[in-house]
Amino acid sequence: MAFKIAIAGKGGTGKTTLSALLCRCLLNRSIKPVLAVDADPNSCLPDRLGVTVAPTQTIGHMREQLRADPETAAQGFSKAEWIERLINEEVAEAVGFDLVVMGRQEGPNCYCYLNNLLRNCLERIAEQYRAVIIDNEAGLEHLSRRTDGRVEVMLVTCQPNLIGARTALRIRDIMVSLELEVQSAFLVLNRCDGSLSPALRDEFAKTGMEIVGTIPDDPLVVDFEAQQRSLLELPPESEALRAVDVMVGNLLERRRR
Ligand SMILES: Nc1ncnc2c1ncn2[C@@H]1O[C@H](COP(=O)(O)OP(=O)(O)O)[C@@H](O)[C@H]1O
Ligand SMILES: [Mg+2]
Repeated sequence: MAFKIAIAGKGGTGKTTLSALLCRCLLNRSIKPVLAVDADPNSCLPDRLGVTVAPTQTIGHMREQLRADPETAAQGFSKAEWIERLINEEVAEAVGFDLVVMGRQEGPNCYCYLNNLLRNCLERIAEQYRAVIIDNEAGLEHLSRRTDGRVEVMLVTCQPNLIGARTALRIRDIMVSLELEVQSAFLVLNRCDGSLSPALRDEFAKTGMEIVGTIPDDPLVVDFEAQQRSLLELPPESEALRAVDVMVGNLLERRRR
């Protein structure tokens, strides 16, 4: 079974950074191939992973083709077969990992039927990998069954302050109300350099989620972003990388138990 990890959290809390670092740490531990899923239309996960993805390579684009001209598009295949072939062909391949970009919901309507089809295809494709990392869209309301169906670990990134704790609580409530099939959900405190005060600890405890990782503020992450360099190239002394590696060790250890 692929180890399926989804990342949620408010915009700017470090979802994409964490997603890229998770890929890096899994690859380092020879847990591969990894499938990275960029489920945020405003995201830059491909950049953080040093991969170029054409606009026509997105799932949103495939969905639009299929919607506009279902007969020609499918060419005698069932829609599900066709999508699976397309995803397999269009997935961006890199060393040790592949990347799928969800892209925008093109067109005015919500195509639940097609979205369900896509989700099922993605779930089947995910089984070809040893780990799957899903970088979610920021807006909490977008946490979706579309991409998060049957997730083993949900990581909620948040800033180490009261706002972070309150937002994490809201995300937890949304996850519950959407009935996402998540086996376990944890908090990841990002850009956190000191220990939490007892009052803040209590606030985070209200979420019912355990803090599984704490990532320090790392100037190397900022610098690599500015230079548009892949986070896969961060030097081993990067504090953020080391913290994520400890967290990955922790998650794998729990998985074995
Ligand atoms: N631990 C960290 N140390 C330094 N900068 C960070 C860290 N985590 C994230 N950042 C920076 O914060 C900004 C937002 O991070 P990002 O991962 O894009 O958040 P999100 O995907 O949740 O919107 C980016 O500029 C990123 O480089
Ligand atoms: Mg992002």
